[in-house]
Amino acid sequence: MSSRDRVKVGIIGSQFQADIHAESFRLMPDEAEVVAVASPTPGNAEQFAKRHGIPRWFTDYRRMLAEPDIEMVTIAAPNALHASMTVDAANAGKHIVCEKPLCMTLEEADLMIDVCRQKGVLLMYAEELFFTPKYVKAKKMADEGAFGKVYLVKQTEKHFGPHAPWFWDVQRSGGGVFMDMGCHGIAFCYWFLGRPRIKSVTCHLATHVHGDKTKGDDDSICIIDFEGGAKGLVEDSWARRGGMEDRIEVYGEGGMTLADLHMGNALPTYSEYGYGYAVEKAPTTKGWTWPVFEELWNYGFPQEMHHFARCVRGKDTPQATGEDGRVVQEVLFAGYHSAGTGTRVALPFRPQGVARPIDLWLAHR
Ligand SMILES: NC(=O)c1ccc[n+]([C@@H]2O[C@H](COP(=O)([O-])OP(=O)(O)OC[C@H]3O[C@@H](n4cnc5c(N)ncnc54)[C@H](O)[C@@H]3O)[C@@H](O)[C@H]2O)c1
Repeated sequence: MSSRDRVKVGIIGSQFQADIHAESFRLMPDEAEVVAVASPTPGNAEQFAKRHGIPRWFTDYRRMLAEPDIEMVTIAAPNALHASMTVDAANAGKHIVCEKPLCMTLEEADLMIDVCRQKGVLLMYAEELFFTPKYVKAKKMADEGAFGKVYLVKQTEKHFGPHAPWFWDVQRSGGGVFMDMGCHGIAFCYWFLGRPRIKSVTCHLATHVHGDKTKGDDDSICIIDFEGGAKGLVEDSWARRGGMEDRIEVYGEGGMTLADLHMGNALPTYSEYGYGYAVEKAPTTKGWTWPVFEELWNYGFPQEMHHFARCVRGKDTPQATGEDGRVVQEVLFAGYHSAGTGTRVALPFRPQGVARPIDLWLAHR
């Protein structure tokens, strides 16, 4: 496909996830190309642009949104900014890929969905687990009937805590590990089971090791009760030593499957001296390590961005939408309320005037 036909993309943000977006478009370049980046810290957008071969850079994302050729923007900025950035991008007529979690409140989620609908632009939710090759294979087998009636889907994501200070600041993040990584597991179980109605949510939260730097939860266990009888079990931690863990378990009356994202794609390695890079959030490369290869591909990031670009061209229908993000947001609110009150919380659950999900837990601490 010629450059003229490819979807022109602008990225908002220039750090961790923005790098993944840029690299993902580079890995699958036939549908889209990144033509601009915006990030407020002087020098960061320029450095990012030079590193990724992007021709234009801005310190104010609104200036980038004024560029007429940009068709789609990806939002890789802190959670508290997702809603206002989405509204600005929609008003500028751009299609939107918004990172997880969708936003802070259900009112914001409604606004984002409504504005995008009114402006005729797509709101796509960057949940890469819908595109993770191993997990896609598990879902395909389940949909083919391999496990019969599925009664339990588990998703687990754990490491020793995020890289940037804003994640630890609940004002800007909206919550701790349950919000940051539980949002993946909630979306995963919902998607895997074919988006059944969620009846109730039960959640346990704790701050085991990082109480010195956050008011947020650093460990979470959440049970989602779906219509039809299946349960989702979402387990997340920022208290886990030894690097990153991301895995699923699926159980049905006729079978089961397990997938470990990193272990099955890693080289059991021993090194006395260390080496360059093992895997996201690995604390060391000395001693025994499990370096991964084709990391972004195994997560599904390039496939995800490729799919979203195809949606802009009308070649695909979005598989992860603002509506999915809103369901996840409601479960986050219900989960924090459940952990705070020690109760099972029935859905629909729409608390009014609560600024961030974690407030419902902190109110009871
Ligand atoms: N899908 C995933 O697996 C995944 C992984 C990591 C992060 N994320 C999500 O991506 C988002 C960004 O996280 P991150 O890890 O890249 O954080 P980060 O701190 O590494 O980067 C945040 C970026 O946002 C920029 N930013 C802040 N204010 C801005 C503004 N007003 N205008 C434009 N840019 C602004 C910062 O300058 C920085 O470049 C978060 O919502 C996070 O939850 C998703």
